Amino acid sequence: MEFSIKSGSPEKQRTACVVVGIFESRKLSLPAELLDNAARGYLSDLLRRGDMEGKLGSTLLLHKVPGTEAERILLVGLGKEREFRENEYRTAVAAAVRTLNETGGFDGTIYLTELPVKKRDVAWRIRQAVQVAEETLYRFDQMKSKKDDVRRPLRKLTFCVERRTELAVAEKSLTEGHAIASGMSFMKNLANLPGNVCTPTYLAEQATAMAQEHGLQIDVLGRAEMEQLGMHSLLAVAKGSHQPPQFIVAKYQGGKTDDKPIVLVGKGVTFDTGGISLKPAPEMDEMKFDMSGAASVLATMKAAALMKLPLNVIAVVPTVENMPGGGATRPGDIVTSMSGQTVEILNTDAEGRLILCDALTYAERFDPDCVIDVATLTGACVIALGHVVSGLLANTDSLARELLEAGHEGWDRAWQMPLFDDYQEQLKSNFADMGNIGGRPAGTITAACFLSRFTKKYDWAHLDIAGTAYRSGKEKGSTGRPVPLLAHFLLARAGAQQA
Ligand code: BES
Ligand code: MN
Ligand code: ZN
Repeated sequence: MEFSIKSGSPEKQRTACVVVGIFESRKLSLPAELLDNAARGYLSDLLRRGDMEGKLGSTLLLHKVPGTEAERILLVGLGKEREFRENEYRTAVAAAVRTLNETGGFDGTIYLTELPVKKRDVAWRIRQAVQVAEETLYRFDQMKSKKDDVRRPLRKLTFCVERRTELAVAEKSLTEGHAIASGMSFMKNLANLPGNVCTPTYLAEQATAMAQEHGLQIDVLGRAEMEQLGMHSLLAVAKGSHQPPQFIVAKYQGGKTDDKPIVLVGKGVTFDTGGISLKPAPEMDEMKFDMSGAASVLATMKAAALMKLPLNVIAVVPTVENMPGGGATRPGDIVTSMSGQTVEILNTDAEGRLILCDALTYAERFDPDCVIDVATLTGACVIALGHVVSGLLANTDSLARELLEAGHEGWDRAWQMPLFDDYQEQLKSNFADMGNIGGRPAGTITAACFLSRFTKKYDWAHLDIAGTAYRSGKEKGSTGRPVPLLAHFLLARAGAQQA
């Protein structure tokens, strides 16, 4: 999709379709009013006759409206004006793009980006519009033998801003939104693939291709190198699978040589059966999404490169398949992690933390500014926070605040949970330095407590994305989250750097 920015009157646009909003009940937004004036009350007439109420997400397509230059006008319902906030704005833009795509025209000129959204500036509205457009048009049909093609697909979208003075900011936001959306699609394409295609080896190949495309440095360590480094916790998870584990390290050098890097660590379990602590059958297919953390950090590297951020960022991705097999790790097995700490593996289904702990120890060698790990780590997080926000835990409050703020800015929100020492005792083991599970209470926190034992040497935050990385049910599929959060964290850091 091609995007552009424009400022100008709606009645003068020579385009396949002009899109304006209608509030409930039957109130014209400002651009709609301009059209109505040019069309001598054509729109207000229609509304008065009851053709449209303005319900959020509803649409009405009009052809050849007198007094206007566009082939069509699309009215989009915005709901109640007082209640028009972030989610409503996104819903309206999505409805517009969906309808445009189902309508014959190749291009559309959207005025919804001019609507005021409380506490959100034009930069936010443009970034979100691009992302929503890409999300609405996203299809994953790689694995279908027959693809249902749109007859005349939409090729170009133009977003309008009220004032010419806003054009420069809007152009910059368009680039940012596009970079983030490209990252999200990249993540979705990896995460939506089934486990028999997206194996650790495949993930390493795709990371390599992405790195080459964007000029990143890349290294992939195999089993022998991991053994040499003493990553026995990670390797214990891979033992039941025929798929060899991989350890991916990708570097984006946009900053000065001696700028400390931000390290992003992503859980890359390409399929999580639970291992010998086998998961129950229902919905087990969704465990192909257990590499969403990995996909999200690789996607964020792509976005960072597209935005040419003046930062050094390193992605570290431990990737394995968690299977039961003759060689698999048994409950009760004890392993020595790369850090030297020993772990009693009481439940082989708590495998995410086992691969992450060695990756977190490995991250020390970069003398990081900070380390952020991203993982579909606990079912408990889905119970606590549902599918709305990601869980956030950190050993440094300022870092946690930065991430919460980035989530708010990118509309990909997180919520902090406590990492109090009091929870650490749940990880006690009679036989090793720690167990890998902490019992039923506070499962998300004890998982983070486990990780915290490997992150003492730097500022660290952990994002549990078990509830936010993908959708179940009819709309099953990767969401592309938390790429917007991570990208906005980097954008904010880049801004601080330049200021
Ligand atoms: N990948 C799962 C967590 C998960 C569950 C993600 C549901 C998305 C949806 C993780 O490896 C896991 O199995 N965690 C266990 C930990 C438990 C054994 C302590 C869990 O949450 O049940
Ligand atoms: Mn598991
Ligand atoms: Zn898992």
